[in-house]
Amino acid sequence: MKLFLDTANLDEIRALAETGLVDGVTTNPSLIAKSGRDMAETIAEICAMVAGPVSAEVTATDPGQMLAEGRKLAAIANNVAVKVPLTPAGLATCKSLSDDGIMVNVTLCFSPAQAMLAAKAGARFISPFIGRLDDLGRDGMGLIEDIVTIYANYDFATEVLVASVRGVQHVVDAALIGADVATVPPSVIHAMYKHPMTDKGLEAFLADWEKTGQSIL
Ligand code: E4P
Repeated sequence: MKLFLDTANLDEIRALAETGLVDGVTTNPSLIAKSGRDMAETIAEICAMVAGPVSAEVTATDPGQMLAEGRKLAAIANNVAVKVPLTPAGLATCKSLSDDGIMVNVTLCFSPAQAMLAAKAGARFISPFIGRLDDLGRDGMGLIEDIVTIYANYDFATEVLVASVRGVQHVVDAALIGADVATVPPSVIHAMYKHPMTDKGLEAFLADWEKTGQSIL
């Protein structure tokens, strides 16, 4: 499963990109606002740091403006994925951009029916928001299961990009279901490294090694 970083924080992206574990980045208007930086400059810098898809979200709501925004964002770099909301205007924009060979990430997906429409509109990615569903007491991971099944039934090429991820277990459950991508906040990647038995085991190995008085180098 591919791992995308869900942030517009350049320092965090740079640090994690250096690990070689980051396959892409997703941003949204809230994350750009949080960064306090110019959107176009930020997206260009992220695209230079990460070779994989970098999602940049439109903010217009009418189809004409949205398409113009999408084309402008796509022109920033070859690895921009234009992010559009799951609305009639968003899917019309998705179809036009996809027909032109531009990657489109359809966001704010909360149902299998919406995901079907996005796939038919040629989306490269569908972003179901599982954390926000869980927050409402709904079954976010059940939505991922449904979409993965539907896409497999019809050989849709659209990749399931699990979004609104709240923790490590979300990533593991999404991988068990066979989702293509999880986009995660940096804190979740850091948490994925951790296991108390790893720390304890390493401590014991190092203590025993110290007793030998040897050195590998
Ligand atoms: C990413 O594509 C989404 O915009 C993001 O995961 C939403 O996460 P949130 O529900 O934590 O805001």
